[in-house]
Amino acid sequence: MKNVTVIGAGTMGNGIAHVFAMKGHKVTLVDVSEPALQKAVATITNNLDRMVAKEKITADEKAATLSNITTYANFDHSTNADLVVEAATERVDLKLKIFTELDQICAAHTILASNTSSISITKIAAATKRADRVIGMHFMNPVPVMKLVEVIRGYATSDETAKTIMELSAALDKVPVEVNDYPGFVANRILMPMINEAIYTLYEGVAGVYEIDTVMKLGMAHPMGPLQLADFIGLDVCLSILNVLHDGFGNPKYAPCPLLVNMVTAGYLGAKSGEGFYAYTAGNKDLVVSPRFNK
Ligand code: CAA
Repeated sequence: MKNVTVIGAGTMGNGIAHVFAMKGHKVTLVDVSEPALQKAVATITNNLDRMVAKEKITADEKAATLSNITTYANFDHSTNADLVVEAATERVDLKLKIFTELDQICAAHTILASNTSSISITKIAAATKRADRVIGMHFMNPVPVMKLVEVIRGYATSDETAKTIMELSAALDKVPVEVNDYPGFVANRILMPMINEAIYTLYEGVAGVYEIDTVMKLGMAHPMGPLQLADFIGLDVCLSILNVLHDGFGNPKYAPCPLLVNMVTAGYLGAKSGEGFYAYTAGNKDLVVSPRFNK
């Protein structure tokens, strides 16, 4: 697993590139957008600087990590990869296209992994001729901080592929957990209904944003309340995962709260759009409830 290609230079992709490069892998970070690649390298550099300042790594380790990362705005460079981790936008059509192409250009031994949060690994694998070597490698945000890797076995993933990815994840100093491929896997099957219930609790006027998040933060020792976490993940991402659960199980208990649907339709997507349940201003780290919910 010397050469690792990461497809997609967004929040997850740059975090994944960061952790592989820190452990000595030669990482090729691929994105169709050159500015996205530049932004990703700037983010990784920033996060490494913070680690140097906190004396978690040395300046030499920072330099070595950065020297392990090469960026390309072209897919073909995956050809020398032993492992590809795809972290592109969460769209089924896009993932199927990427995996079909990867299958054609990668060596026979290359394992193709997806960081998808809820798209079926079995479906992605079926777009290739190597379904035994396709697997889910679901990192959590922020990737350099969060310990979990949810390793998702598709219907045809081989024991050997699962073992390789479990061992590799542990070697990244993560804690891998193996799960099977059913809607939402384990992480989002449990997390998203909790977030949806928090939104219903707000929608029905049981309590306000601050109150709901404080109950869960202090009462259950969660680092963030569910509404803040929803803003952090992105409300559009939460809605799309709930729709996967709802469609996949056909059970009304997963129906997204109408308030969530309205917020996403109106473009209130959480931290990334500047407003969700909270209002975000650049440079201000204080948590401010959105004026819409603070009446
Ligand atoms: N990249 C790298 N390091 C980061 C970081 C980032 N983006 N954000 C924070 N950190 C580091 C900080 O440097 C700090 O390091 P030290 O412990 O060495 O000081 C540490 O993380 C804690 O950060 P802060 O003190 O700034 O803030 P905090 O204590 O509030 O922690 C947090 C921030 C780690 C994000 C914490 O609030 C948390 O754990 N939140 C929950 C995150 C979570 O649940 N993630 C999963 C989301 S679901 C998902 O990803 C999957 C999906 O499919 C939807």
